[in-house]
Amino acid sequence: MTTPQRPRIILDCDPGIDDAIAIMTASRWADLVGITTVAGNVGVEHTTANALKLRSLLGLTVPVHRGADRPLVGDPFHARHVHGATGLADVDLPEPDDGPDSWDAVDFLVEATRAEEGLHLVPVGPLTNVALALRADPGLAGRVASITLMGGGAGIGNVTAAAEFNVFADPEAADIVFRSGGPVTMVGLNLTNQVRMGSGHAEACRAVGTRVGAVAADLIRYNIGAHRSQDRATSGSMHDPCAVLAVTHPGVVRTEPRHVTVELDGTHTRAQTLVDERGSLGAEPNCRVAYEVDAAVAVDLVMQAIAGA
Ligand code: RIB
Ligand code: CA
Repeated sequence: MTTPQRPRIILDCDPGIDDAIAIMTASRWADLVGITTVAGNVGVEHTTANALKLRSLLGLTVPVHRGADRPLVGDPFHARHVHGATGLADVDLPEPDDGPDSWDAVDFLVEATRAEEGLHLVPVGPLTNVALALRADPGLAGRVASITLMGGGAGIGNVTAAAEFNVFADPEAADIVFRSGGPVTMVGLNLTNQVRMGSGHAEACRAVGTRVGAVAADLIRYNIGAHRSQDRATSGSMHDPCAVLAVTHPGVVRTEPRHVTVELDGTHTRAQTLVDERGSLGAEPNCRVAYEVDAAVAVDLVMQAIAGA
């Protein structure tokens, strides 16, 4: 019996605590063709350094390409209060063995998807790089197997009542992606808040006895604290790995076809991902929206990735 094919993915990210766990998850369950970095949780100089440090920690050879340092419109918006001053909590990783493979993530996204059709793009930060790549080459939308993004949310936000961070940090980029005609799947907060990791998971990671397990334990612990400050939680949502698992283990997540509009102007609703649940707009669905996840299985797959790294 042939082993199931590991999906080949490009992870576009802004490490970032949950981005780091997503990189661990992707390295275990997917073929990581490339990592592209973008300004988001912290500046792109930090998200790129963090991706390089994690590559070294995990002993990966995946190319890392530095991307956009600001959104398409307006100024960068960061989340240091959630991810720490440099983006990886209070974890001190050794300086990376070497620098990024290029400073042009957009060119990498265009060229890699031209060289190989059927790749999955998995953006888990602001969508600036992906939007710029679609602007440079609209045909990209038809060459990829999916654009499975962590972002937005059906009826929920975490920056405002309406807007989720990745979309809030670059709404115009998100609008380009949702209008691209590509095979978009939105893994939003309504889904990712169901997947949570607490102190028990942190201690289980530490008990693995590896450097990766210790780093994951510290990241999970810090993430609990960041979420506790927001909603007195005893666990922290693990957003970004959900987008990876939606590609590597599609049976774990249930999605439905929907039309999603990104609000660009609303006084209180800018960056909302408005999901047309009833087809009232008469518009054809432009993406799939994730609604349910087997959270226990998802967390177990993340734990397997950490333990096996
Ligand atoms: O809203 C959650 C998202 O914003 C995650 O991707 C997290 O890393 C931050 O970028
Ligand atoms: Ca992220």
